Amino acid sequence: MEILNSEPMADIADDLDREALQKFVSGHSFIKDVSVFREIDSTNNYAKYLAKQKNTKDVLILSDQQTFGRGRASKTWISPPGKGLWFSLLLRPDKNWEKLPLLSLGAGLAVAMAIEKVLNLTPKLKWPNDVLISGRKVCGVLLESEFSFEKLNYLIIGIGINVNQDVNDFEKNLKNVAASLKMVVRRAVDRLELLTRVLQQLEIVYQQFLHSQFDSICSEWKKRVCFKENAVVSIRTNEEIITGTFENIDTYGRLVLRLGNGESKLIQSGTIINWQL
Ligand code: BTN
Repeated sequence: MEILNSEPMADIADDLDREALQKFVSGHSFIKDVSVFREIDSTNNYAKYLAKQKNTKDVLILSDQQTFGRGRASKTWISPPGKGLWFSLLLRPDKNWEKLPLLSLGAGLAVAMAIEKVLNLTPKLKWPNDVLISGRKVCGVLLESEFSFEKLNYLIIGIGINVNQDVNDFEKNLKNVAASLKMVVRRAVDRLELLTRVLQQLEIVYQQFLHSQFDSICSEWKKRVCFKENAVVSIRTNEEIITGTFENIDTYGRLVLRLGNGESKLIQSGTIINWQL
């Protein structure tokens, strides 16, 4: 794989220095190593490259800028320098592989909890893993994994948080659907403080996952869901658009919808395109 402009730098930006990150990492068993970049194509791509090397695990990869950030459904994730938190975790959990999609909900949950703690806001979660404030997306999660012969090779949790963009930093088509935390609180947000808190919350969620405490993740997630029970929701899957009322999420991270004919439908992947508050 070609790695673009991926020379690790001593300090990636004024407010995000390597030493402070190393300090955090040394106090936490959750992450063993950290790679920081001023600019890279995509931290998820770099995590994949690292994953091909033996014994690499529990690595945090962070870049101040991504030139080819990737979102869900093959979308581009705009990742300008100095404005956001763009990072990936390379993990190799040794169990509960059938429940990995729940970790993608758990990652959104961890970001929401960190935002609550650092900024005293009340973010909402949109299945599977968007974090919204006042209906606008401030964070997205891209979970990627590879299996061979039913054994997990790697898991990558890629997280993008819009932290300090101004409204004009967003492209026209995103202006009504995306926002940064700075736009909400009307002041610049400390990226290092937020990142540290997100990593702490992620560690908690990951430990719950490894200890099979799936219900704890689900119940915290449901407290923050952006629609009420029985709200009408429409989802675009690869095959069709499904509309039903929201019932639940299950411990596999699936959305449980009640269809018009009374049948319960489990949805594994898709994008919610319409919902009632
Ligand atoms: C989404 O579409 O909502 C998911 C966006 C995920 C973006 C993050 S930024 C860090 C990591 N590297 C990428 O290329 N994508 C993820």
